[in-house]
Amino acid sequence: MLYLFTYFILQKMIKPVKGFSKLTKEEKVSWVVSSFFNDNPKAESIIKRYWNDDHELQQLHDEFIENTISNYYLPFGIAPNFLINGKLFAIPMAIEESSVVAAASKAAKFWLDRGGFKTEVLSTTKIGQVHFMYNGDKSKLESFFSEVKAKLISDAKPITKNMEKRGGGIIAIELVNKTAALDNYYQLHCSFETMDAMGANFINSCLEQFAKTFKGEAKKFNAFSETEKDIEIVMSILSNYVPDCIVRASVSCPVSELNEDEGVSPNEFAKKFVRAVQIAQVEPYRAVTHNKGIMNGVDAVVLATGNDFRAVEAGVHAYASRNGSYSSLTYATIENGIFKFWIELPLALGTVGGLTNLHPLVKLALEMLEKPSAKELMQIIAVAGLAQNFGALRSLTTTGIQKGHMKMHLMNILNQMGASADEKKQIAAYFEGKTIVHNDVVAKFNELRAL
Ligand code: MEV
Repeated sequence: MLYLFTYFILQKMIKPVKGFSKLTKEEKVSWVVSSFFNDNPKAESIIKRYWNDDHELQQLHDEFIENTISNYYLPFGIAPNFLINGKLFAIPMAIEESSVVAAASKAAKFWLDRGGFKTEVLSTTKIGQVHFMYNGDKSKLESFFSEVKAKLISDAKPITKNMEKRGGGIIAIELVNKTAALDNYYQLHCSFETMDAMGANFINSCLEQFAKTFKGEAKKFNAFSETEKDIEIVMSILSNYVPDCIVRASVSCPVSELNEDEGVSPNEFAKKFVRAVQIAQVEPYRAVTHNKGIMNGVDAVVLATGNDFRAVEAGVHAYASRNGSYSSLTYATIENGIFKFWIELPLALGTVGGLTNLHPLVKLALEMLEKPSAKELMQIIAVAGLAQNFGALRSLTTTGIQKGHMKMHLMNILNQMGASADEKKQIAAYFEGKTIVHNDVVAKFNELRAL
C-alpha cells in the first residue's frame, strides 16, 4: 500500500526531462528545485552552498562528470607516523566515517615503536579480455590465432609504443576456449604491465584494436568456412579482477611487546587477536565485516590519491573469494614468541593519468607521499588496510568497538543538533568515561539548553 502510494506520488512528481544535459548549470538546479522541492529556496541554497567561489576550480569539478549541479565534500584527513620499510609517511585519507583516521593514527604510532611496517609488491600484471563467439572447428581457430598473434601485437604498436618506453606493454595474449561454459564462447585473454598508470584506457584501447584486427583477419583466413569467418566480437574490456597484481604488508614483534593497556596480558591479547583473524578466515559473515574494516583504510587512501575505489573494491572482494569461500585478507600467527600479522591483496592503482594530474587535492596528497610510483602507492595503501584491521581487531578483542566509535560519533550527533563549541565541550566532558547512547546525548543537550 505504502509502496503504491509512494509510486503514485513519484509518478506525479517526476516527469521525463528532455535535453537535460544541454541545460545550463543554473537551469539544472532550477529543474531539481522545482521538480523535487516545490521551488523551496532552501533546497537551492543547500545546492549552491557547496559551490566554490574559485571559478576555475569549480569549472574543473563541473567538468569531471556530466550534469554537475554541486560538489559533494568528504573530509580529507591525515594519519601521521607510518613507518614503512624504514621511511616515515603521513598518509592522506578521504573518508566520512568517524574513527577511521584516529584508528589508523593509533595503529601507526603503535607499530612505529615496534619496527614499523614491511611491504613488498609480489606482482603487477593486469588483465583484459576480448570476448567473442565462434561457431566452427576449434583446431582451425587455434591455427588462425597462431597466425594472427604477431599482427595483433604489431597493429597495437601505436598504442603500446609509449608504454613500452616506460617499461610496460603487452605481456601475453592467449586464446581461451570457454565453450564448456557457454556455446561458441572464446576469449583473447591478455595480460599487461601498465607501470605507473592504472591502465584502464591503455588496456581497453589495446583490446579494441586486438578485436578489430582479429575480426578483420578472420575474414581473410582461407581455412575458415564462411560461417567460421564471421567471428562475433561481443565486447573488449579490462578485468578488475587482478589476482596477479598483489602487494603484501606485514608487522611483527615479540608477543611480550604487545600492549597491556586494555586490561589483558600481551600473551592473552596475541592469542585472542590470532583467533579473531582465524574466525574471519573460516566464517564468511565475519570475513565480510573484517574486510570492510580493511577497506575503510584502503578506500580512504585510494580516494585521496584519485584512484578508482570501485575497481579496487570489486577486485579485492573477488580475490577474497578466490578459494571458493569468502575469506579474510589478513593473516596472523604466533611462532616462537613472535607475533606476525600481514595482509595480501590485489591493488590496481595509478599515480599518473586520470585525476592524479587534474585534482589539486589529489596532487597534493601524492606530493605528501613524495610522488610515489604505482608500486609504492600499492604498498602504502596495503599498510593503511593492515593498520585499520589491526585497530579494529585490537578494539574488538579488548574493549569492544563502541567505546572509541561512539566517542567520535558524539561530535556527529552534537553537530546534527547544532551544538555550539561550548556546548560540545561541556557535553564531551560529561560523557568522558561514560557509555555514549544517542538518546542520552540528546537528553543532555536539551538539559543544557533548558538552563
Ligand atoms: C566498521 O566500519 C569496521 C569494523 O566493523 C571492522 C571490523 O569489524 O573488523 C569495526
